[in-house]
Amino acid sequence: MIYLKNNEEIEKIKRASVAVANGLLKIKAAIRPGVSLKELDKIAEEHALSQKGIPAFKGYRSYPASLCVSVNHVVVHGIPNDYLLKDGDIVGIDYGIVLDGYYGDSAMTIPVGVVSDRANKLMSVTQESLMKGIAQARPGNRIGDISYAVQSYAESHGFSVVRNFVGHGIGKRLHEEPQIPNFGPKGKGLKLEVGMVLAIEPMINEGTYETEILSDGWTAVTKDRKLSAHFEHTVAILKDGPIILSTPDMAA
Ligand code: MF3
Ligand code: CO
Repeated sequence: MIYLKNNEEIEKIKRASVAVANGLLKIKAAIRPGVSLKELDKIAEEHALSQKGIPAFKGYRSYPASLCVSVNHVVVHGIPNDYLLKDGDIVGIDYGIVLDGYYGDSAMTIPVGVVSDRANKLMSVTQESLMKGIAQARPGNRIGDISYAVQSYAESHGFSVVRNFVGHGIGKRLHEEPQIPNFGPKGKGLKLEVGMVLAIEPMINEGTYETEILSDGWTAVTKDRKLSAHFEHTVAILKDGPIILSTPDMAA
């Protein structure tokens, strides 16, 4: 079942998503060599509450924290621990807030200090693959158009697209239908309509696309332990095309 959203609902998802985007900027500003992953989680938790929201991930299927923090070969769902970030790491921060009953969800990957050219390239290609996917989120297009745009861009730069995790519809729940794979043929899949709100989230790997889950039941890593990057936006489909809801509000 796909729940199409009216303008009031999109406004509410936008408020949650802007709160997420502002929080990501706060967390980004705290990222430097020597900071612990738990400190970043604390900023995420306090920011959500300061916005009169609730951290969306904490307690979701028993996930234990407010933020997913995924360092280097961790693809997604890294649980914040006492690890201290070090110069040369790349760190994915994935964050969600529920505000007034509606969810916002966004992620980015940030360099710690000075990182390798290859790591920089992986991050910029992943971010650009997200933008290519978003550009396809128009009424009349199909989900496969998003998937194909992400995959063809990422693979043209020699990187691989994670298969085991996908984007999703979002609204009154964190994960709604439809699923948004980051790979697949164009012109296939469900037709996109005005009022769909989608969390599009490519996870792009330096080496193999294969992943495995560590024994904590959450942490997804690349099978070859090479680098992975992740960017995500919450996007609404309007008559004239996509609008990104998870954009920071400079006044906040
Ligand atoms: N952005 C991720 C997702 O949509 C974050 C979920 S983490 C979880 O799946 F802990 F909440 F599962
Ligand atoms: Co998501």
